[in-house]
Amino acid sequence: MSLAGRIALVTGAASGIGRATAAALAEAGAEVTGADLAGFAGGERVDVSDEGSVAALFARIPPPDIVVNAAGILIETPTVGSEVDHFDRQIAVNLRGSFLVARAAMEAMAGTGTNGRIVLVASELAHLGRAGFAGYCASKAGVIGLTRALAREAAPGILVNAVAPGPTDTPMLSPDTMSPEALALETQNPMGRIGTPEEIAAAVLFLASPGASFMTGQTICPSGGAVML
Ligand SMILES: NC(=O)c1ccc[n+]([C@@H]2O[C@H](COP(=O)([O-])OP(=O)(O)OC[C@H]3O[C@@H](n4cnc5c(N)ncnc54)[C@H](O)[C@@H]3O)[C@@H](O)[C@H]2O)c1
Repeated sequence: MSLAGRIALVTGAASGIGRATAAALAEAGAEVTGADLAGFAGGERVDVSDEGSVAALFARIPPPDIVVNAAGILIETPTVGSEVDHFDRQIAVNLRGSFLVARAAMEAMAGTGTNGRIVLVASELAHLGRAGFAGYCASKAGVIGLTRALAREAAPGILVNAVAPGPTDTPMLSPDTMSPEALALETQNPMGRIGTPEEIAAAVLFLASPGASFMTGQTICPSGGAVML
């Protein structure tokens, strides 16, 4: 799993899965830049939904050969009577953001030769669907389609894969963001528990590693068995 000599960028790195992924890549020997909408020590600022912000980020960091887009938002709301702005915001950050970061990564990697890796972050809910999560599920299903399309476009020099995590112990999974009914569903998988950010980061690390050299366009689901494909 050594990533010595590799340069990585992780978005959403101020918190949760992005933060654990940045740590795992660094532990494996990569030189890691973390970026987030929120400020944090040693990190870069970026709004992944903003084309100019993503371009500016890539212009001021060393060209990465591993890019992980873990930035994301979740808004739970019943669809009937909902504000379309909530749908639009989730599409903007989760899907448009994945597109903008992956496009910038492909452009940066084109200048550095081959063996690039892009890992996007979807969700088990893209496969399962869930009442009250239409915008989130749609945005994450879009990420899976985007992964497949970009994988075909970028091969063989750049491999594009995704992780679709199950419920993970981060600030996104809290009573502040989700209803008691939705939270109660989160442990209903064969393993009967939620995951840790480190367990998701381990899957991302694999996709970024030499061990995944024959994989592209895949979405793997560390979800305690909730999703079996
Ligand atoms: N926690 C879970 O149960 C779970 C499950 C499946 C998928 N995911 C996905 O994993 C990813 C990471 O989520 P998490 O659980 O670590 O949540 P989190 O809230 O802990 O972290 C998300 C990070 O993304 C950043 N962010 C939000 N909007 C941004 C923007 N426009 N530009 C840049 N950064 C932005 C936030 O500031 C935050 O630091 C997300 O894409 C999320 O949808 C999470």
